[in-house]
Amino acid sequence: MEYNISVLIPEEEVDKKVREIAAKISEDYAGKTIHLICILKGSVFFACELAKRITVPVTIDFMSVSSYGAGTKSSGVVRMVKDLDEPLEGKHVLIVEDIIDTGRTLAHLIELFQTRKPASVKLCTLLDKPERRIKPIEVDYTCFQIPDKFVIGYGLDYDQKYRNLPYIGVVEFVEEEN
Ligand code: PRP
Repeated sequence: MEYNISVLIPEEEVDKKVREIAAKISEDYAGKTIHLICILKGSVFFACELAKRITVPVTIDFMSVSSYGAGTKSSGVVRMVKDLDEPLEGKHVLIVEDIIDTGRTLAHLIELFQTRKPASVKLCTLLDKPERRIKPIEVDYTCFQIPDKFVIGYGLDYDQKYRNLPYIGVVEFVEEEN
């Protein structure tokens, strides 16, 4: 299918917002160490940019999950592909996501992480599509709320491509004429 890519949020705007959120996080966590959890793959770009700008000590760990079901539509069942390397007990966990859509992934992960007895759990996302929410999620830090469009770049993919775009783009499919 043919498609075009247009810019939704330019690189400069994303960078500015990431700096602002990192400053707010640094202030909120003053005197603490943040245990940053990056949810692969999408959040890796955002997590790195954010971590570089946080001024309190940061440790980092990675988890990989996938939603799967019959056909191409997600069933909402979250399967763990790679667990964290480190325990969470007593740590100030900050989950970093590239996007929150239905909220199913995060609802599942927050519940799982709470069983591991962290000192606290907060959530930071680059993008949020509130109108798509199925599971209510309390988001502590949001860079941008966006409409329900097919977004790519800054970690987000279309068929595994375009994660490396430095801006947030939108994929617009070209209607084929009969
Ligand atoms: C995206 C995103 C979240 C999840 C959000 O990951 O990174 O983990 O979807 O969707 P939800 O709110 O509806 O649960 P995706 O499954 O696309 O994997 P990827 O990060 O490896 O591209």
